[in-house]
Amino acid sequence: MSDQWLGLQGKVAAITGAVGGMGRTIVQEFAKQGVNIVLLDIKEDALNEYAQEVADEFGVETLPIVTNSTKEEDVDNAVAKSVEKFGHVDILVNTAAMLRACPLEDLPLDEWRQTLEINLTGYFLVSQRFGRQFIKQGKGNMVHISTIASIFPETYSAAYSSTKAGVNMMSRQIAAEWGQFGVRSNCIQPCFVKTPLSEAFYADPEVENGRKALTANKRIGNTMDIANAVLYLSSDRSDYTNGHELRVEGGFGIMMGDQTPKPGGRREYAVKEHDAYLERIGKK
Ligand SMILES: NC(=O)c1ccc[n+]([C@@H]2O[C@H](COP(=O)([O-])OP(=O)(O)OC[C@H]3O[C@@H](n4cnc5c(N)ncnc54)[C@H](O)[C@@H]3O)[C@@H](O)[C@H]2O)c1
Repeated sequence: MSDQWLGLQGKVAAITGAVGGMGRTIVQEFAKQGVNIVLLDIKEDALNEYAQEVADEFGVETLPIVTNSTKEEDVDNAVAKSVEKFGHVDILVNTAAMLRACPLEDLPLDEWRQTLEINLTGYFLVSQRFGRQFIKQGKGNMVHISTIASIFPETYSAAYSSTKAGVNMMSRQIAAEWGQFGVRSNCIQPCFVKTPLSEAFYADPEVENGRKALTANKRIGNTMDIANAVLYLSSDRSDYTNGHELRVEGGFGIMMGDQTPKPGGRREYAVKEHDAYLERIGKK
């Protein structure tokens, strides 16, 4: 398949959380496709270093802008600087988020508000300000990293799950209101991906194996799985996909039925039952 199948060469993408686990891989995969990149994150040193590294390795233009996605003046500055340098922005990817666990009954109000601020208000603010630019251009494409926990409650992470459910709806709102202006908005819902945000979960092999077992693919996801989906949804190859939530989770969400216990084990029960049936009808 041609490297240019996606037709992304020469486009400009802005990405929040650009030096996070997923952010880095998404930046790198855009760069491989010849996309110029605006890197947004709060980690100044990492941001500058990574922007330089990607520009050197892939020969694309990169623009690191220290940006707190919850601060209006930062986000407005990021849009203005991006347009000043590149003249336009074609793609926005929202990844900047936080995760903190706490039983619901103990969750302090300020922690609830902080999660809401970063995970939902931040996504909204960045989408709105880049969205205004997209409307002006008559074209633009957004991909928001949500989570499978936005559908199935992540127990003891209520603030996280709730904010991400909000992200799904915000994305649909954008699609519904701005589709007429040439703006698309889609979500990706990952499940188990090893990154700095989640690495503590994988320190114990038993936990890792337990997680693998919950997926249909029987493996933990990697950041490339997510980046591949981001690139597709960012490209004109997905032009008629709008307001969609794409699960990239190894089939985790369809495995509920597989959790239902059956006497002797699910497969063993099925084989026994089927053998008995064949005997009854004289075929065994
Ligand atoms: N890792 C997983 O298993 C997993 C699963 C499902 C969904 N997700 C989602 O994927 C996205 C990326 O997660 P990750 O695993 O790469 O996380 P990560 O912690 O590795 O990266 C997050 C990045 O966001 C930046 N950031 C945080 N707050 C910010 C702010 N206010 N403004 C600007 N930047 C900010 C951080 O500095 C960091 O670089 C998140 O939205 C997360 O909820 C992750």
